[in-house]
This record gives sequence, C-alpha cells and structure tokens, in this order.
Amino acid sequence: MRGMEVVSRKSLQPFNTFGIGVTAKYFAEVRDTEELRALVRDKRFCDGKRLVLGGGSNLLFTEDFDGLVVKNAIRGIRVTSEAGDRVVVRAGGGESWDAFVSWCTDHDYAGLENLSGIPGSVGAAPVQNIGAYGAELKDTFEGLEAVDLASGETERFSARDCAFGYRDSVFKGKDAGRFLITAVSFRLTRLDAAAQAYRFQTEYGELRAALGDRAASGLTLQAVREAVCGIRKAKLPDPAVLGNAGSFFKNPSLPAGVFERLQKHHAGMPGYPEAGGAVKVPAGWLIEKCGWKGRRQGRAGVHETQALVLVNHGGATGKEVLDLAHAIRRDVAGTFGIELTPEVTIV
Ligand code: EPU
Repeated sequence: MRGMEVVSRKSLQPFNTFGIGVTAKYFAEVRDTEELRALVRDKRFCDGKRLVLGGGSNLLFTEDFDGLVVKNAIRGIRVTSEAGDRVVVRAGGGESWDAFVSWCTDHDYAGLENLSGIPGSVGAAPVQNIGAYGAELKDTFEGLEAVDLASGETERFSARDCAFGYRDSVFKGKDAGRFLITAVSFRLTRLDAAAQAYRFQTEYGELRAALGDRAASGLTLQAVREAVCGIRKAKLPDPAVLGNAGSFFKNPSLPAGVFERLQKHHAGMPGYPEAGGAVKVPAGWLIEKCGWKGRRQGRAGVHETQALVLVNHGGATGKEVLDLAHAIRRDVAGTFGIELTPEVTIV
C-alpha cells in the first residue's frame, strides 16, 4: 500500500472550493486502485459513512462528516487507441479536469475545448455530466471505470450505463455514493490527421461574440480554449479568491405553455427551446429579477456578475449558504411559481 495514511479529524476546508470549515472523522488519499481496495476492505470503515472527493468544486458541506472521506488522487493520462483521425484518451479520475483539457488541446486533440476552465477533477466530471458553452461531457464520452466501494471490484460503464442527463447521471441518482471513478475515456479528434475540417462548437452567443471573425474560419483549439477561459474569468468568481461551487442551482425546464404564460407577465424573460418542446429558463435571470444579485446575507452572498453563483465572503458556514439558498428558492417560487433545484451536492 506504499504507506497510504488514514488521518483522523482532518479539516476539509482546503478540499472544498466553497471553503467551508468542516472536518472529516477519517480522511485518506488513494493513488491507485490497490490502495482503494485495501481501504474499502479495512474493517474500521466497512459499515460507516463514506464520501468520495474529487476537486470538491461541486459540493456544499453543512456539517462535519462523520465517516471516511476518500480523496481521489489517481493520476495518469494516456492514449489507448488511435485510428485515422480518431483517438481515445484515458485519464485518471484524480487528474485536474482543466489540466487534462489543456493536455488535450496541447496535443491537438479536439472535443473538450469548450469545457475549458471548469474546476474539479476528471473523476467528478461524469457524475454531473459537466457542460458549458454548447458542449457536454457526454458528447465525447467513451467509457469509465469505477470501483464499487462495497465490494472493491472494478466495473466498466458505457455512456448508456451512465444514463447521462442535464447535470445528471446514475452517479447522482440510483448509484449515488456507491462508486469511486478511477478513470474516464474520451473519443477525440486528431486535428493533424482530420480528413475534413473539424466542426468547432461556436453557437453559444457569448463564445461566438468573443471569437468574432475567427469563428467563421481559421479557428484553433487554443483560440477556443482562451476565449472560453476569458468568458469564465469575466463572469465566474475564482474559488481561490472567493469561495464558490459554480452554478448553485440548475436551470429549470418548463413546459412551453407554462413558459409562454409566464413571459406575458414578465417581459424579457429569456428561454431556450429544448428537444421535446420544453423551454429552459436561466435561473440566474430569475434570481436577478428577485433582487438577489450581489446581495449578502451574513457571510454568504450572491455573486455580483452571475446571480446563479452563491459565494462565501469569508468564514461562512455551510448552513449560512444553505439558508441563503432557501431564501432565494422561496422568492423565486413566490414570484414565478418555479421551484429551483440545487445543482451542487449538499452534504
Ligand atoms: N442571466 C441573468 N443574470 C445573471 C446570470 C444569467 O440574467 O446574473 C441570464 C442572461 O440572460 C444570460 C443567461 O442567463 O444570457 C445565461 O447565462 P450564462 O451564459 O452565464 O449561463 P447560465 O445558464 O447561467 C450555464 C451553466 C454554467 C455554464 C454556462 C455556460 C447551469 C446550471 N449552469 O449557466 O455552468 O458555465 O451555462 O454554458 O446549467 C456550473 O455548472 O457550475 C456552471 C458554471
């Protein structure tokens, strides 16, 4: 086991991007599947609570964790197959997501560039099917390997097995808490070998605007990556400076009839049609209209340039952030009759 250590009463503050100061009863970092298997078979932890931690960028701790926290530190990136302009790349679950995206763009492997700049780890990315600027993880997903924390056995998942949805998968639903994702593979395009021009995803309004004339011709992976990172920097707070976990709520999806009725009462309400006739409404707009943008409540607050992001102004408890979230939900429900659902996992 190369000296894997289990630490007691470990502060989790450096391990969650909200910067909430809770502790874990036990904490261990695993660097490979052998260490993980030994850990889950350790009698001390067989019956207790367990939590898998990636980058800690999509969760809100509301109390001390009375069990074992396992930090995924499984590294490694390699090409597993190559044919023509197709390449499959496999990354360890403990790799930083954005370092992995950067590795892909540096190697001229296309497909993940719109997902640049997202905090968190590779292993956490499929759990909520991360998405941004017109792309979602599921679009290039090939498969993943995960260890069942009850048995210690490795299982393989196809896209179908994962049942990806909008910010959703089996790992958030029926299999929540059951697996640690050890590796994820992606189907990418080798730009140097691409027979036809690669189709960059530039339909998202803000991205198209940032790329300007370049969107029509002469685009590079690096240019898209830089544009996406630029948009994110301008709007989303850097967790290293201001604690946050990105979008706190999901964007709600409404039946078209409900959306049309609401739009009559609330002029300018934006909506994006989805497959199946539903309309997705930006939760940030609803929250802003309720007057919450930039507001503080105790040590928690709503970000001033993106109302969908809740922030820790310093020393906030998870409970304070949760109270703020409840107040926002009440107002949005009262004003629009829409129930917001959290996007972050509340622990
Ligand atoms: N808007 C406002 N006020 C705000 C924020 C947004 O009116 O304070 C409205 C505007 O109409 C704006 C629209 O919402 O045009 C969309 O805003 P934005 O492009 O910032 O996207 P979003 O819908 O708020 C989603 C994802 C983000 C992702 C962006 C870009 C969810 C829950 N969030 O946000 O993901 O980066 O699109 O694709 O779907 C995350 O998951 O943590 C995350 C940041």
